[in-house]
Amino acid sequence: MNRLVVLISGNGSNLQALIDSVAGGDLDAEIAAVVSNRADAFGLTRAEQAGIPTKIVDLKAVLATGRNRIEFDADVADLVAGYQPDLVVLAGWMLVLSEAFLNRFPGRVINLHPALPGTFPGTHAIERAHAAFQRGEIKRTGVMVHRVVPAVDAGPVVTLEPVPIFPDESVAELEERIHHVEHNLIVAAVDLVLRGDV
Ligand code: GRF
Repeated sequence: MNRLVVLISGNGSNLQALIDSVAGGDLDAEIAAVVSNRADAFGLTRAEQAGIPTKIVDLKAVLATGRNRIEFDADVADLVAGYQPDLVVLAGWMLVLSEAFLNRFPGRVINLHPALPGTFPGTHAIERAHAAFQRGEIKRTGVMVHRVVPAVDAGPVVTLEPVPIFPDESVAELEERIHHVEHNLIVAAVDLVLRGDV
C-alpha cells in the first residue's frame, strides 16, 4: 500500500480532500501520518478524527535549543522517514524546506501552490494574483502541484489547472474557487505520482 506523509500548517482542507479520497477508495494509498509545524492547525483535528497519527514540530523551540534551521529540517526528515513514506505531500506547509530535508526523499516531495508556474511564488499568492488582475496585468491565475526543490515553489510541475479571475469578484470569492480546484488537483496529483505517470 502506498504510504503518504502529509505536512500541514493550518486549516487542512486539502488534507481533508486526501483523507476523503483515501476513505472513498479513490486513492490507492494510506496516510501514514500528518505533521504540522503549528499546534493550533485545524488539520491536526481532521487527522485525529480520521484516526491518523499526528506529530507537531516546533521550529521556535528547536532554534531555542541552539539548533539551527538546517538541523530542524534534518530533525523533521528523521521524523517523516520513520513513517516510511512513498510520497511526502506538502499541503499548506508554510516553511521552506532545505536540502537537509529534500535530499532524504529525492523526487518524492510534492507541494501544492495556488498560482501558475513562475508566478507569485511564496505567501499570499492568491491576493497577489487578484491585485495583479485589478492592475490589468493578468487575466487568470491557477493552481499547481510541483515536485519540491530548494527554490521556493519552483520545481518541475506535476499538474496544474488555470483558474479565471472574474471582474468585480473579491479576493475571498477567488480564494473559494481556487480552494475548490485545489481539493481536486491535489488528489489527482498524488494519484499521478503514485502511478508513476509523471
Ligand atoms: C492552500 O491554498 C495551499 O495551496 C497553500 O496553503 C493553503 C492551505 O490550505 N499552500 P489548507 O490548509 O489545505 O486548507
